[in-house]
Amino acid sequence: MNKPLRKAIFPVAGMGTRFLPATKATPKEMLPIVDKPLIQYAVEEAIEAGFTEMIFITSTTKRPIEDHFDSNFELETKLAAQKKSELLDIVQNILPKGISCAYVRQHEALGLGHAVLCAEPLINDEPFAVILADDLIKTKPRNCLKKMVETFQDFHHSILAVEAVPQDQTQRYGVVKPKENAQQDFFVIDDIVEKPKPQEAPSNLGVVGRYLLTPRIFHYLKTLPRGAGGEYQLTDAIAALLKEEPVGAMKIPSKRFDCGSKIGYLEATIAYGLAHPQLKDEFVEILNNWQSYHH
Ligand code: G1P
Repeated sequence: MNKPLRKAIFPVAGMGTRFLPATKATPKEMLPIVDKPLIQYAVEEAIEAGFTEMIFITSTTKRPIEDHFDSNFELETKLAAQKKSELLDIVQNILPKGISCAYVRQHEALGLGHAVLCAEPLINDEPFAVILADDLIKTKPRNCLKKMVETFQDFHHSILAVEAVPQDQTQRYGVVKPKENAQQDFFVIDDIVEKPKPQEAPSNLGVVGRYLLTPRIFHYLKTLPRGAGGEYQLTDAIAALLKEEPVGAMKIPSKRFDCGSKIGYLEATIAYGLAHPQLKDEFVEILNNWQSYHH
């Protein structure tokens, strides 16, 4: 019987060095876009796609993530006493009922492959998602992960989210080699390479931070040699998996922001600010004023 997709892994142990000094004492996943931290956008995308078990792979200095998804008795008592019911609702409803969170420590920074392997005891031989919160993908017009789940229900094999990236940026991504039909939104891949040089990249389709994986990936994660950057790479385990099972790639259906980089983060702030129901009118005015100021 095909097992359902219920578990989503959020590797959040990374140090966020691209965003120093902001990330010296604050997890990069807690950086806000307008009024919500990146990790909350990622969790909301997963919940909307039908996932119910959130598994965070954390490390020291990542405690604020646990606190964010827990209740805060002192704050809630204060808001209730002040009759600030709207704010109370916001802090109490970060997670809807029926959603569970588990936290696993990754004791050493040994790479994304190692982080995913840390979740194995909680996965129970089911297919699962991996979500990288610093790749922020708008859920409109379509929720990327939800579209991947729908595709998974037809094929029951692993699926990676991909996007055409500038040829000179292939070294930032896992890059896939399509088997055929690379023009279509969904296709099977022949190979995947972690962070290839532009001249060695098998295509310009880079993996962005959404994966649906079959539990067979753990077999390869356990036997993996160190790869790019001396780390255990999820990409290398996928390259081994696809020799045994089909692995598909799906082009993302909505805009992505690389919020691990300062410029991507700024762009996301503008996009989400302009879409924010309470702020957008004033924000447009501010941006227009800036534009005229600079001309
Ligand atoms: C990781 C993966 C890479 C993927 C990228 C997406 O790299 O190793 O294959 O393309 O995420 O954001 P990182 O950004 O952690 O260096």
